[in-house]
Amino acid sequence: MADRPSRDESARLLRQRIEMGGSEIFLDSMSRDEALAMLERAAALAPSLGAASAPLPAPPPRRPSAEAVTPAPAPQRRSAAAADRGAASPPVLPDSYDELKSLALECTLCGLCESRTQVVFSDGPSNARVMVVGEAPGANEDETGVPFVGAAGKYLDLLLATVGLSRKDSVYIANVLKCRPPGNRNPSPEEIEACAPYLRKQIDLVQPEVLLAVGSFSGKLLTGDQKSALGKLRGQVHHYHGVPLVVTYHPAALLRNSNWTRAFWRDLQLLRDVIDGADGA
Ligand code: URA
Repeated sequence: MADRPSRDESARLLRQRIEMGGSEIFLDSMSRDEALAMLERAAALAPSLGAASAPLPAPPPRRPSAEAVTPAPAPQRRSAAAADRGAASPPVLPDSYDELKSLALECTLCGLCESRTQVVFSDGPSNARVMVVGEAPGANEDETGVPFVGAAGKYLDLLLATVGLSRKDSVYIANVLKCRPPGNRNPSPEEIEACAPYLRKQIDLVQPEVLLAVGSFSGKLLTGDQKSALGKLRGQVHHYHGVPLVVTYHPAALLRNSNWTRAFWRDLQLLRDVIDGADGA
């Protein structure tokens, strides 16, 4: 087997490759645990990666974790009868993070509840400063209940590390859809409409300082701009309910077309600039 790059050098190597226009992906044979362990060490190296990749300082005690938020009154749940779908009004979503999660884990608002293995609610600390919003779970996520654990997720983790963001410590990840569309087809407008309130409530409760939407479904949903192509939405700072929002390509798209990696990385640097601005740098 070919030698792997040492763990604490991988993020720096990737950054160099992007800067030089290289496209080789070297994560194929790495397990998620190996990748995460590597990223933890890469984050410690971040100061040597230049100003744009200074590590996030320890989160200030700005607010408690959303998990610690005082429970709200019990949510009004809809009937679990799938036959009822579409007829009744959507549930009133609770102001308690734990209750919101419990509600989502039992959701039957759209037909995906019938084919899913697990609801994929989120990953990462619920008081993270950065929130990444993807599209929908794939097969690995449906199996594990954790977003972005496949090849695209590993690549995302490493790219975040190149700008000093540790997925484990500083990033909360969720998707537009919480359940896998069969065969990884695109989310339908009805599924997005049914599921988006969960995401909106997650954003309200997590209160990230900055949002990163990866892919056109999350980019369009969060900017509210349904017409513009992803290429037009990226490269600038939008706002979602006052929260700075950067839109970029989906990491799975980078694995298919490495020409987009540099643009993605520039968007990550824009994200980093927003964070540094929020730090008063
Ligand atoms: N792609 C996404 O958009 N989300 C995931 O969780 C996995 C793959």
